[in-house]
Amino acid sequence: MPVYGFTLNGNPVTVDAPEDLPLLWALRDKLGVTGPKYGCGINVCKACTSFLDGEDIRPCSVKVSAAEGREVTTIEGLADGDKLHPVQEAWLEYDVAQCGYCQPGQIMAAVALLKRTSSPTDEDIRAIENVCRCGTYFRIREAIMSAAEKMS
Ligand code: FES
Ligand code: FES
Repeated sequence: MPVYGFTLNGNPVTVDAPEDLPLLWALRDKLGVTGPKYGCGINVCKACTSFLDGEDIRPCSVKVSAAEGREVTTIEGLADGDKLHPVQEAWLEYDVAQCGYCQPGQIMAAVALLKRTSSPTDEDIRAIENVCRCGTYFRIREAIMSAAEKMS
């Protein structure tokens, strides 16, 4: 099988995998990085949201071969050492998580939104398509608004 090399959360990694293996499978099953969650596998639930070269992607729908030579960031790589990202801090402050399953993807989607705009509107936040079966959307909105304010 081909070997693909990329940077994962700041560290170089290689993975021996079929070209068309979804990146999510490579991350979770081959590299043991389980922050990105498997929900649907077809780019609908967004539970796996991560970054490729700083852009948000759904790794269930990106081939591992597409990561070759690039930089992959998952929720595990969001904090700066012991210092949480402001969005993670806001998530704790607002006690956003319920069961928690969707939350890594929610946080990564929120970070992606705040990279695009420092002053998100309700509409911007509603446009985040990450599904939360526990219905934490209100607290997600509050946490994003708080993080936006602290980051600006
Ligand atoms: S598992 Fe990737 S979008 Fe649902
Ligand atoms: S916190 Fe349970 S699915 Fe979102």
